[in-house]
Amino acid sequence: MRQEDIDRIAEALDTLKCKTQKEVEEARVKLLGKKGEITALFEDFRNIDRTEKAKFGKVLNELKQKALARIDELKSQAGNDDTQNGPKMDLSMPGDPFELGSRHPVSIVRQEIVDIFRKFGYDVAEGPEIEDDYHVFEALNFPPNHPARDMQDTFFVSAGHLNPLLLRTHTSSVQVRTMERMPVPIRVICPGRVFRNEAISARAHCIFHQVEGLYIDENVTFADLKQAILLFAREMFGPETQIRMRPSYFPFTEPSAEVDVSCNICHGKGCNICKGTGWLEILGCGMVDPNVLEASGIDSKRYSGFAFGMGLERIAMLKWRVNDLRHYFENDMRFLHEFATAPEV
Ligand code: DAH
Repeated sequence: MRQEDIDRIAEALDTLKCKTQKEVEEARVKLLGKKGEITALFEDFRNIDRTEKAKFGKVLNELKQKALARIDELKSQAGNDDTQNGPKMDLSMPGDPFELGSRHPVSIVRQEIVDIFRKFGYDVAEGPEIEDDYHVFEALNFPPNHPARDMQDTFFVSAGHLNPLLLRTHTSSVQVRTMERMPVPIRVICPGRVFRNEAISARAHCIFHQVEGLYIDENVTFADLKQAILLFAREMFGPETQIRMRPSYFPFTEPSAEVDVSCNICHGKGCNICKGTGWLEILGCGMVDPNVLEASGIDSKRYSGFAFGMGLERIAMLKWRVNDLRHYFENDMRFLHEFATAPEV
């Protein structure tokens, strides 16, 4: 055992530098581990001369204490960015926010329409999306093979039967189910998804949403229909809104009309949204055909009623000036987030 070895290790301890906890541990093993330099000196110590033992015993113990203290010191100074302790964390960094969803524009419009008609005393009714021919067409006065069925291109689920199953092409089918089920007077709106075999474009889609309305009681007249639509339009598009009715044709209503509202963008002056006319078409309506009442067991001599139907995507397009129907179905978060606060134009 040589004093120089001991001095060399003691000096090296003073200048020892470790950046990471891993390096500190490596230094500890090198000095005090099973095969460490200091451990080796203790091994030697066993074999030295008795006379030398007193001298080296003290020095060796001092060296060991010094090494342990230095390792502790280095440990408390070294960084935490080694693999043993995981990546260094910056606790002052802002956290990742949870991405919050927002309501779909079609849901916003549906809820608005439901709220308006609820105030007028209407209930909400629903029906199946997979329907039969009877409820979508026949009970609504579309005779078999009648060309009026071509107005709506149908997806059939099971063809070839007398009463085939199909995806409903309009929510007017819920009118029928409501008349079958509920006693008169009836006041319902029926929001729902509908399907048509159409090529997808900016103006048409094979899936969209409608709200159907139905009012049946004694002495219901066309004037009641006009008033209901006017009140609705003013709630929906603002108190200045005007409506106009144009004669139209639907198999289930007689007389039938299409309703336009005054353009809320140019206020009737004419702009590219209303194509210069000052009017925007929003719905179809009419007095329920007596055949439709009778088909569902309602006495058409005693009762009369009106019905109307509108497309939700179209109303949302007018409200927010969305120019392409496909946006509603692509779930692009950039589009959906624009409605987080439902801005109105
Ligand atoms: N069902 C019609 C359609 O999908 C919309 C409609 C028009 C509904 C007139 C009605 C109505 O109740 O009276 O095109």
